[in-house]
Amino acid sequence: MIWPGVIEAYRDYLPFDADTPAVTLNEGNTPLIHAPRLADHIAPRAGLRLFLKYEGLNPTGSFKDRGMTAAITRAVQEGAGTVICASTGNTAASAAAYAARAGLRCIVLVPQGKIALGKLAASLAYGAEVISIDGSFDDGLRMVREITERRPIALVNSVNPWRLEGQKTGAFEIVDQLGGRAPDWHCLPVGNAGNISAYWMGYKQYERGLPQLLGGQAAGSAPIVLGRVVEKPETVATAIRIGNPARWRQAVEALDESGGIITAVSDEDILAAWRMLSRLEGVFVEPASATGLAALKQQIESGEIDPAGKTAVVVLTGHGLKDPGTAVEQAATPITLPAELEALDRYLA
Ligand code: F0G
Repeated sequence: MIWPGVIEAYRDYLPFDADTPAVTLNEGNTPLIHAPRLADHIAPRAGLRLFLKYEGLNPTGSFKDRGMTAAITRAVQEGAGTVICASTGNTAASAAAYAARAGLRCIVLVPQGKIALGKLAASLAYGAEVISIDGSFDDGLRMVREITERRPIALVNSVNPWRLEGQKTGAFEIVDQLGGRAPDWHCLPVGNAGNISAYWMGYKQYERGLPQLLGGQAAGSAPIVLGRVVEKPETVATAIRIGNPARWRQAVEALDESGGIITAVSDEDILAAWRMLSRLEGVFVEPASATGLAALKQQIESGEIDPAGKTAVVVLTGHGLKDPGTAVEQAATPITLPAELEALDRYLA
C-alpha cells in the first residue's frame, strides 16, 4: 500500500470534509527507532525503553510537513493565491514545497545570517521568495501577522490552527507504533511552541493514554522556562532561536495538564546529545532536534525523572543535512593522504 500522507491516513480525526482534496507529499509515517545503546548511555541498567521519532525523514526533512499539508490544503480550499510565514528555516522550506505543489505564491521571512544552509537552499529551490530581515524570527512573525491583517494572504505559521491539526498526527503515529498506547514521557524541543501544543492535542484526542511532556529550550532562548520574553535570543540550535513563542500559553497549559517539565539546556549539552545520536545510534539530526534528548538526560541525572522501566519517546524534529555548516564545524577535519596504497597502509598501522 502507498502511504497516502497524514490527511488521508487520519481524516476521521481531522476537521476536513470527506471530499476535500489533500495537498500532500505523502508526509508522515516516519520511523520510531528503538535506541537501546542510547538508553544505556543516559540511564545505565535502568531498563529505560527509549524510542526516537525520526521526523527528519519527512519530505522536506522536518516535522513541519505534517502541519503544512493541512495549512496549504486549507489555504487552497479558501481560495488563497499567496501564503506567507516567518521562519527559522524549516517552516519556510516546508511552506515553499507545499505551495509549489499547490501552485501558490510563497513568501518567507527569515532572520538574516541565522538560517541553516540546507533550509535556505531548499526554500530557494522550491521557488519561494525568500526575504532576509535584519531582525529575529520574533520580528518576522510580528510582521507577517500584521501584513496578513492588511492583505489577502494566508498565514501558515503555527498561529494558524490548521498547522496544529496536521502536527497532532505525530501523536497518533507514536501511539500506533508503540502498539496502541502512549509513552510515559514525550520529549521534544520547544521554539514557537506549536509542536508541543499539537502533540498534546493529539494524545488527548486519540484516547490511548497520556504521556508526561518534557520540553527542552536552549538556555540562550528559554522564554517559557524563564517566564519572560527574551529580547535577543541566541543558540547554536538556530531552529529554536525564539524569544517570544506564539503558542506560549497553550504550551504551558499542555505542560501543566500532563504533569510535565520544561527545562533549559546549554548549547554544549545540545551538541553533546546531537553527537550521541549520530555516534551511538546512527541517527543524524540538526542541532535543535537533539534538545529533547539533552533535556531527558539532564532530568534523569538530576533525579527529576525516574527512568526505571519507563518508555520515553524523543522527537527528532529535523534532519542533520539541514545544517551541514554546524556539522562540519563540530567534526574532526578529514584525514588527507596521497593516493597511494602504502600511505593508507601506514595510516592504518
Ligand atoms: N525543531 C526544529 C528542527 C524546528 O525547526 C522547530 C521550529 C522546532 C524544533 C520547534 O518547534 O516552534 O513548534 O516549538 N521551527 C520553526 C521554523 C520556528 O520556522 O522552522 P515549535
